[in-house]
Amino acid sequence: MGFEKTKWVWHNGRQVRWSDATIHSSAFGLHYGTGVFEGIRAYETPAGPAVFRMKEHLDRLYASAAVYNLKIDYTCEQLEEAICENLSLNGLGNCYIRPIVYFDSESLGIRAVCPVSTTILAWEWEDAAGKGKKEEGLRVTVSPWKKFHSSMMPTTAKSTGQYLNSILAVRDAAARGFDEAILLDMHGNLAEGAVENLFLIKDEKIYTNDENSSILMGITRDSVIQIARSLGYEIVIGTMKLEDLLDADEALLTGTAIEVAPIREVDGKAIGSGRRGPITAKLQKTYFDIVTGLNSDFRHWLHQVSPAVRLGAKAVA
Ligand SMILES: Cc1ncc(COP(=O)(O)O)c(C=O)c1O
Repeated sequence: MGFEKTKWVWHNGRQVRWSDATIHSSAFGLHYGTGVFEGIRAYETPAGPAVFRMKEHLDRLYASAAVYNLKIDYTCEQLEEAICENLSLNGLGNCYIRPIVYFDSESLGIRAVCPVSTTILAWEWEDAAGKGKKEEGLRVTVSPWKKFHSSMMPTTAKSTGQYLNSILAVRDAAARGFDEAILLDMHGNLAEGAVENLFLIKDEKIYTNDENSSILMGITRDSVIQIARSLGYEIVIGTMKLEDLLDADEALLTGTAIEVAPIREVDGKAIGSGRRGPITAKLQKTYFDIVTGLNSDFRHWLHQVSPAVRLGAKAVA
């Protein structure tokens, strides 16, 4: 991950220089984790940079914000424009985009309702899975930390504070030498990876869970479901147990950062052949062809950064 190319950050309606994109130490969101955010990717395509499923990500941002009463002062179209302009200003093609909305500075009483700030940061983040892991597969562990239940905090909202749970899980996994953590829900069923959704494949059927298993409803998850169906696979959505993972022919994680990555081992036990399986490889290839504009099957998922924005942004910079 590198911020080197990021010279401009969009903050509360303006593109500001990196050094000016700071928040005050009294910001409410910093103290109480009261922010919501998105992770979006853009890809270089033959027609120039395109943002993948931007509308769906922004819809989820507004839905997350509504849960915490964060009123976003900008329309979806304004945020879309801000994102495209920011990518152009920074000269970014393949990159990760992080819109974040948070309660800013006014008071630190827990009941306070503070002004809301919105920031968009974009940077180059090539291989979040780790070098070679998308081909060779991830070694994961079942975390001692459980995924919180929606009766504790809505799991379908992407809020900053809830990531303490994910961070405990990934740090524990890394300390024990694993690539990623799988969290069980409070009933002991499979929930998801720390920041990814989970798919299992058995006898050519593809299994995944839903919000009843305390997961974030991932946009990559939805993309993979739609791609798999278009390839003729049956998708079974429901509760998944740890035994189902250990007994799977193939398993994979999906998320905007990691994209589509195979799991090859769970706590030292090989999944299937212990290597990326054929269905995972097919889903991965189709996914990458779609996001990079080489496969036009889901063309409507790509929001092309228009040449006008690209040219206009260069003139400002
Ligand atoms: C907890 C959690 N689950 C799943 C995902 C995958 O979601 P998406 O595919 O929308 O990035 C993420 C990443 O945002 C996440 O943080």
